[in-house]
Amino acid sequence: MTESVLLVGGGGREHAIARALADDCDLHACASNRNPGIASLAETFENVDETAVDDIVAVAEQVDADAAIIGPESALAAGVADALDAAGIYTFGPQESDARIETDKAFQRRFMADNDIPGSPDYAVFEDLDAACDYIDDYDGDLAVKPIGLTGGKGVRVIGDQVTAAEAKEYLRGADYDGVVLEERLVGEEFTIQAFVANGDVRTTPAVQDHKRAYEGDEGPNTGGMGSYSDTTMELPFMTPDNYRDAVAIMEQVVAALDDYKGILYGQFMLTAEGPRVVEFNARFGDPEAMNTLPVLETPLLDVITAARDGDPLPSLSFSEQATVCKYAVPDGYPTDPDAGTRIEVDEGNVGDAGLFYASVDEREDGIYTTTSRSFAVVGLGDTITEAEQVAEDGLTAAGDGLRIRHDIGKPELVQQRIDHMAELRE
Ligand code: AMP
Ligand code: GLY
Repeated sequence: MTESVLLVGGGGREHAIARALADDCDLHACASNRNPGIASLAETFENVDETAVDDIVAVAEQVDADAAIIGPESALAAGVADALDAAGIYTFGPQESDARIETDKAFQRRFMADNDIPGSPDYAVFEDLDAACDYIDDYDGDLAVKPIGLTGGKGVRVIGDQVTAAEAKEYLRGADYDGVVLEERLVGEEFTIQAFVANGDVRTTPAVQDHKRAYEGDEGPNTGGMGSYSDTTMELPFMTPDNYRDAVAIMEQVVAALDDYKGILYGQFMLTAEGPRVVEFNARFGDPEAMNTLPVLETPLLDVITAARDGDPLPSLSFSEQATVCKYAVPDGYPTDPDAGTRIEVDEGNVGDAGLFYASVDEREDGIYTTTSRSFAVVGLGDTITEAEQVAEDGLTAAGDGLRIRHDIGKPELVQQRIDHMAELRE
């Protein structure tokens, strides 16, 4: 029997999920934007908002879905997995209460403390923003300022890195956040590990490094992620196998302490001189990180989802042992003042050996239009990061005008800077 699978979400991450599933199942999709890449792989594509719980359940029933997979955190926070599960459609994505590991940063830190999970920085939670400002004044050292709820990766301000203490206080006083976590600033190199989780099993994938800052040389505001790379092994060039194992051990403790978590668990770590510390957890694949991981995953994604659904052990994963480099093309002005609604040219014939992943664009009758978010990504694979980077750059000739790219991602100079930074911290 061919399985029917519903995919929720219309970004680059979901295009990567669609590509990993399309050959093995009858794929159906729904998202608020018509993603041309997903639409061309799916048998049906419905324009439905990712948080419209009842409409998504209706689509799933209409296509007679045997399973569903959710891309974006907004859908998890809205309870889409709960509603689909309740309607009898197994959903590879956590229930709203488990997704709090991502959607509520105060819950996340308290959960780690209550369960004695190592790797958390010192933190304090405030609902009163004036009290938070006093804490900033009194704290001996730099702090990361994190609004409690979802901010699309753009809400955090790190004192001593992006802002001064005075600017951080001004930021808090000018915002209407319900609360904030203030935590010790971690210094090191960041990496992500994504794991498939179900029935207590945890299957991890190669570490990826994202680039959150908008401009080359890690300048400018934080974004959802401008691009990312992974190596041929499970680690990145600045990591040791022990660093990878220590991070995985933390993730396993998180899964053990949660109640039957299912879906992707994404661990964001700071590799410090003392080893990996937890920056955050997400309850879904990363975007862009999914585009690094899924193209090298040789185990069929469908097999993972059906094993999870059927209560079988998750398959052990195999990877093609290639390095990957992903680079996003984003609208001019992204993320502060993005040029939405502009028609862009993407010359699919020009991507060469790179993979092209459409993201938050909208396909209309007369062409492809930007939204306020990232437009599309190219992913190069190769025997080294440098080779993969060149493949990605060749693919970027597909990008027309009105788009911005961080060309430095995956280049040898930037990777070497990361290695040197870690070597310095370890001294
Ligand atoms: P988050 O939304 O928690 O992923 O935070 C966004 C970015 O802020 C992270 O990728 C880090 O670069 C930075 N960040 C968050 N927490 C900390 C911390 N405790 N120390 C240093 N940087 C942090
Ligand atoms: N790339 C960061 C995220 O998906 O949250």
